[in-house]
Amino acid sequence: MKKIGVLTSGGDSPGMNAAIRAAVRGAIYLGMEVYGIEKGYEGLIDGDIRQMDISSVSDILHKGGTILRTARSDRFMTVEGQKRAKQMLESFGIEGLVVIGGDGSMKGGLDLSKMGIVVMGLPGTIDNDLGYTDYTIGFDTSVNTVLSAISNIRDTSSSHERTTVIEVMGRHCGDIALYAGLTGGAETILIPEVGVDINAVCRKMVQGRNRGKLHNIIIKAEGIDMSTQELADILRERTGMETKIVVLGYIQRGGSPTARDRMLASRSAYKAVELLNEGSESRAIGINGSEIVHYDLADALQMKRDYDKQVMELADILSI
Ligand code: F6P
Repeated sequence: MKKIGVLTSGGDSPGMNAAIRAAVRGAIYLGMEVYGIEKGYEGLIDGDIRQMDISSVSDILHKGGTILRTARSDRFMTVEGQKRAKQMLESFGIEGLVVIGGDGSMKGGLDLSKMGIVVMGLPGTIDNDLGYTDYTIGFDTSVNTVLSAISNIRDTSSSHERTTVIEVMGRHCGDIALYAGLTGGAETILIPEVGVDINAVCRKMVQGRNRGKLHNIIIKAEGIDMSTQELADILRERTGMETKIVVLGYIQRGGSPTARDRMLASRSAYKAVELLNEGSESRAIGINGSEIVHYDLADALQMKRDYDKQVMELADILSI
């Protein structure tokens, strides 16, 4: 393969730039030409494409966001949009694509692969919701950002003897809540995979107060089927304890990627260009333990991974 493209799509995540850098420099090292496609599938349809060289990716490794910018493309969801995207790749002579994004972006890649484009999917999302890989690029940074927020909120919660419900991202996946909850010492972690037991949450709040705890931190994943305000209102009413909410929002998607995210991004992106160079079929690349792994793209998107029950149990044991 002589010419490849790289794009980022969907919600940005810290480490996407590290992945772009590794894909561009790795591909050039292997003797290929690399084209950067702006704004994901939107830019692909519009031909927003430019050739990249080793300097195009200088000084980006440590930066959050994505230098290629990103979008959620409605046009690409249509057959017409996908046809135009494929034609645009043909106009530029691009035969293979590195797609860095989450579930929806990977599905878009699968559609293109069915039209004859070889697609390498890299898991770029803070949500950690792709079943074929232990971790996604950006998840670790996001968890650390939430952790830092929990520490700050804990200070003020203790001073005022308040309960604080902190809402975190993750779409339908509770991993950000689970990992940040355990490492941040949250009293309660609520994830969509388990749901909410209001009685249990109230019991923990009251037991904590009775043994002199000054604060009560509840981490609630956004995928829970109840608004954060509604939950706080119920808890306040039932326990009589002052209950505040904090919705962390986009703060979780920004910031300089952690070493772990840069490592995953660099290793998986280089594997992607190696596979393209070897003439591989479309694959999804991820990590299993400490090993970079890859699966057939369609198969990978069917794979499911349950939340880590042992982590949840441990969080419960340690937060009494
Ligand atoms: O997929 C990443 C994510 O940040 C989710 O956690 C969240 O639900 C969603 O994107 C928010 O999307 P948008 O950027 O469209 O508001």
